[in-house]
Amino acid sequence: MNKVTEITKAVFPVAGLGTRFLPATKAQPKEMMPVVDKPLIQYAVEEAYGAGIRHMIFVTGRNKRAIEDHFDTAYELETELEASQKHELLALVRSMQPDDMDCSYVRQPRSLGLGHAVLCAQPLVGQEPFAVLLADDLMTGLDGGPSVLAQMVEVFGQFQSSVLAVQQVPLDHVQRYGIVAGEQIDKKVVKVTKMVEKPRPENAPSQLAVAGRYILTPAVFDRIRNQARGAGGEIQLTDGIAALIETEGVHAYSYEGKRYDCGSKQGFLEATVELGLKHPEVGAAFREYLKTLPL
Ligand code: UTP
Repeated sequence: MNKVTEITKAVFPVAGLGTRFLPATKAQPKEMMPVVDKPLIQYAVEEAYGAGIRHMIFVTGRNKRAIEDHFDTAYELETELEASQKHELLALVRSMQPDDMDCSYVRQPRSLGLGHAVLCAQPLVGQEPFAVLLADDLMTGLDGGPSVLAQMVEVFGQFQSSVLAVQQVPLDHVQRYGIVAGEQIDKKVVKVTKMVEKPRPENAPSQLAVAGRYILTPAVFDRIRNQARGAGGEIQLTDGIAALIETEGVHAYSYEGKRYDCGSKQGFLEATVELGLKHPEVGAAFREYLKTLPL
């Protein structure tokens, strides 16, 4: 295989049920919930675009309309904004779909698991390495530094194998994640030898948990297709990636930055407060407001 240094396609699985956020997710995907003023999915798309990716592939389920509309032209809104001379807002709305960005949508007919959702994207991905971003994990790089996905594209360029974003988690949290273990290659990279989905603390091979950013080689599709149902009766992405370890190698990368688990209420609130504090328009006033709370 020729050396690949560029990742051109990103898959966004947005077909989950989002049960932890009911009733908010009854009629809209959780990825449309806003943190301050942007829906989660937009943070993820901007991260992918910033990492050089131009083809965004959404794996949608029921309630897909809101996401499609969000990344489409909004003629009536734009006409109204133009007529009322709201140029800044017009530019903001238009900036969401740059001319060089393509969006495709594929449907996951039933929520059979993340592995199944990724498999649904195969006809659009084809035979090239691709990124997967779970928008409910909102990831921020260090201030002024590259995004988490941009860091991973670099690591992919170096190893030419699948790359998983990982972080250390407390032992009593391992059951919420895919957990990897392996050989430490440098300060931030582990060559993975073991990967398990949601292990009990006593069975966890490490405390290195996979966060919602992946760069995967296309071989993962056959591995997913051929695997049995995994934890929770779902077709797990973790099992498909674990099957790559022996044939191609998989690397885990300890990213620089922060992850907010916006699929949980606690994580969503933390993201809202921290990004609110950094927001150029409301940050300063919000900080003053927080100081007045009797905490
Ligand atoms: P989660 O594990 O958070 O599941 O999915 P969920 O259904 O969205 O939420 P809860 O647990 O019921 O509250 C992780 C990511 O995988 C996508 C979700 O949309 C989310 O981005 N996903 C999950 C799918 O696209 N399809 C699936 O079948 C499962």
